[in-house]
Amino acid sequence: MMKGKMLSHIVTISPIKKKCLIILMVVVVPCSILNFLSTPDLRDETALQNGIAELQAKLENLQAKYVNTQEELNLLSHQLLTFTENAHILPDLQYLINNGTSNITSIKLPSIFTFLPYLLNDLNSLKPAFLQSKGKTGVSMVLGIPTVKRQVQSYLLATLKNLLDSMSSEEMADTLIIVVVAETDLDYVSYVAKQIEVHFPEETEIGLVEVISPSPSYYPNFTQLKNTLGDDHQRVKWRSKQNLDFAFIMSYAQTKGTFYVQLEDDILAKKNFITTMKLYALEKIGLKENWFILDFCQLGFIGKLFKSVDLPWLVQFFLMFYNAKPVDWLLDNLITTKVCGIDKDNKHCKIAKAELWRHYEHSLFQHIGTHSSLKGKVQKLKDKKFGKIILHYPHENPEAIVESQIKPYKRYTLDRAYRGETFYWGLLPQSGDHLYFNFSRPIYIKKYLFRSGNVEHPSDKFYNTTIEIMSEFSNNMDRNNNNITEDGYIVINKFDSFGIAQGRVDRSFGKISGLRMTVHSDSDNWAIISEIHIVEDESR
Ligand SMILES: *[C@@H]1O[C@H](CO)[C@@H](O)[C@H](O)[C@H]1NC(C)=O
Ligand SMILES: *[C@@H]1O[C@H](CO)[C@@H](O)[C@H](O)[C@H]1NC(C)=O
Ligand SMILES: *[C@@H]1O[C@H](CO)[C@@H](O)[C@H](O)[C@H]1NC(C)=O
Ligand SMILES: *[C@@H]1O[C@H](CO)[C@@H](O)[C@H](O)[C@H]1NC(C)=O
Ligand SMILES: *[C@@H]1O[C@H](CO)[C@@H](O)[C@H](O)[C@H]1NC(C)=O
Ligand SMILES: *[C@@H]1O[C@H](CO)[C@@H](O)[C@H](O)[C@H]1NC(C)=O
Repeated sequence: MMKGKMLSHIVTISPIKKKCLIILMVVVVPCSILNFLSTPDLRDETALQNGIAELQAKLENLQAKYVNTQEELNLLSHQLLTFTENAHILPDLQYLINNGTSNITSIKLPSIFTFLPYLLNDLNSLKPAFLQSKGKTGVSMVLGIPTVKRQVQSYLLATLKNLLDSMSSEEMADTLIIVVVAETDLDYVSYVAKQIEVHFPEETEIGLVEVISPSPSYYPNFTQLKNTLGDDHQRVKWRSKQNLDFAFIMSYAQTKGTFYVQLEDDILAKKNFITTMKLYALEKIGLKENWFILDFCQLGFIGKLFKSVDLPWLVQFFLMFYNAKPVDWLLDNLITTKVCGIDKDNKHCKIAKAELWRHYEHSLFQHIGTHSSLKGKVQKLKDKKFGKIILHYPHENPEAIVESQIKPYKRYTLDRAYRGETFYWGLLPQSGDHLYFNFSRPIYIKKYLFRSGNVEHPSDKFYNTTIEIMSEFSNNMDRNNNNITEDGYIVINKFDSFGIAQGRVDRSFGKISGLRMTVHSDSDNWAIISEIHIVEDESR
């Protein structure tokens, strides 16, 4: 503990200030100009400062771990002491533990069991029921994503894919993503974990993505909850469970890294959001600012960053009041409790809170879905500060006549999508529907890409849909080959679960006169194609 304190005093001298001061004594140049002139140097300085800030943050983590260990040791000593006192044995041991300091009976502090006595009914109530983890720890960023079963459409996989796509490999190395499946149906939990493992095998293997689920006995008997704030029972149940879910994920995440960021399972993120958040946090630490939350999104609890060492504040608070209020209200209440005086006016409180709760100027996260997991509650809140979202990716494609019997919505036609003007949006594809791309002249295709769905409508994908080609050799091919349709198209691929179909077409197929998609089952969703890219092979 002492060593830590001393180190943090040493590092308070800002290297930039020191350097400018020295130079200032020789020539009178304002620091700002000097910094401007010596940009590479300044970059070094910033890197150094960030490095120091990072060390400081890690040190705080270590100290918190030390306190935890001490606490456990303390508890153990007390138990041992009670045992030896009662048994009147081992006086040496008794002395060793007690060290002869005092004989005063200790008072007993309330623990979380005081507020959640039902946790004592089962020894395993705090043990996860499911854990898929490689034990990755010591990272800078821990991202917590709670997910529950949804009535309509789950965006979890789309969310994970987007988060991972938005990270560089350095960011991945310094990050841990924890998915908490907050359901007690273990079959469902295993199913979700399996889905994640199948879709993100590498990320699971290297321990970047973990899946965890609480024990059923972690939850109270929800029918016995008090209805509070005039909400109906269903809503009280939903928000009380959310408080417990957040407390669970934060408790688990606390020891895994330096910072913790709360996310949701239906969001998308800006590119390199990890670095942006980390640099912002290190800057605040370097400036010795007194903050509790760094806020990277204006919506609910999304994109709130905490120091891991501060998480016990939240966990304790959420658990004490889990039946009283929704989690985002509790967060606000906690901050109010920390800094607002009852004798001061609202304005003073606002200013004091803004100091602890810092808002980053841009939003790094946005909601995708329009369905909340609370049945019937449609959630259309969007963060206006997130900026423009790309809904289609234009490309130049070989000249072709395109058509489909799937009716387009408004002006989102296949023709315009093929020309890169917009995305295609078809109404309810049914089994047997086709989308034709008939080329003006037969061509060799080097590669192709069809991306269905977009970030605003991630579930509007093509499901169970194949990609087929009409080649100059189609008629000569073996009719018994399963990959040849009755009307002579060769099936070469199908849309994957991310709604993407891409690949190369071997030259041995010959020249291709047309390409088509065939839908094999009725869809409950509309379908979007947000990217079409067909690249002709023009080599001889
Ligand atoms: C325990 O006793 C030793 C030796 O008498 C002393 O040096 C030490 O400070 C004591 N520790 C505590 C926690 O009182
Ligand atoms: C603690 O109590 C025991 C017996 O009650 C006594 O023998 C011992 O001297 C006491 N120790 C101190 C440090 O007061
Ligand atoms: C939950 O509480 C209700 C009402 O007190 C009771 O009827 C029910 O049996 C309890 N359920 C369980 C699983 O204990
Ligand atoms: C595209 O080709 C298919 C057969 O390969 C044909 O049935 C369809 O009518 C063609 N569409 C257009 C618009 O030429
Ligand atoms: C049919 O296509 C699949 C994948 O497109 C391929 O793996 C398989 O070998 C093909 N079968 C035949 C008989 O060509
Ligand atoms: C795809 O469609 C075929 C034919 O309708 C059906 O047999 C199959 O079960 C469908 N597969 C999926 C994954 O929906």
